[in-house]
Amino acid sequence: MKPIVIYKSKYGSTKAYAQWIAEELSCEAIENKGLKAEDLSDYDTIIYGGGLYAEVIAGVTLITKNISKLEGKKLVVFTTGITPLDCRDYYDKMVMEKNFKGDTQTKVKVFNFMGKMLMSELSLVHRTALKALKKLMSEKENPSEMERLLVTLCDCDGDFTDRKAIKELLDYVKE
Ligand SMILES: Cc1cc2nc3c(=O)[nH]c(=O)nc-3n(C[C@H](O)[C@H](O)[C@H](O)COP(=O)(O)O)c2cc1C
Repeated sequence: MKPIVIYKSKYGSTKAYAQWIAEELSCEAIENKGLKAEDLSDYDTIIYGGGLYAEVIAGVTLITKNISKLEGKKLVVFTTGITPLDCRDYYDKMVMEKNFKGDTQTKVKVFNFMGKMLMSELSLVHRTALKALKKLMSEKENPSEMERLLVTLCDCDGDFTDRKAIKELLDYVKE
C-alpha cells in the first residue's frame, strides 16, 4: 500500500486530522495547494480531508472532478465540521449530494469528524457570513429541524477534534 493524505484546512482542524492519519500510516500529509490528478499518480490510496463550509468539502473537487483519472485507486474522503455526528441526514444526504454527483458517491468512502470553530479565530468574512446565516434562519416562519440546529451552530465556539475518531478510517484503509 502506498497512501498519501491531502488536506485543505483554513483553521487547522482538518490539518490536525491529516497529520494524525499520516503519522499512523507512516506516509506524507500534504496541503491541497494547486495539486493536480497527475500529482497523485504514484499512490494507490488517496485520503482527502477538507473542512465543511456551507456543506461544501473544501477543495474536494481535486477528487470528484478527476474521478476517472483516479480509477483503480482506493479513494477516501474525510470531512471536519461542527454539525453533530448523529445528524446522519445532514452528512449522508445533504453533504453527499452537494459534493458527490452521479456515481462518484459509489467510488469514494467518506468519513465525518468533528472539527473546531473558535469565534476568536474566524476571519471577518466568516463571522459576517455566520451572522447573516443565523439571521436568515431565525426569520423563517416554520423552520425545519435542520434550520433550527443551524441557528444554534452559528454560535458554536469550541474545539471538538478527537484523534481517536480516525480509527475507523485507518481500519478501512488497511483492509
Ligand atoms: C463560514 C463557515 C461555514 C461553515 N459551514 C459549515 C457547514 O456547513 N457544516 C459544518 O458542519 N460545519 C461548518 N462550519 C464549521 C467548519 O467546518 C469547522 O470549523 C471545520 O472544522 C473547519 O475546518 P478547518 O479548521 O480545517 O478549516 C463552517 C464554518 C464557517 C466559518
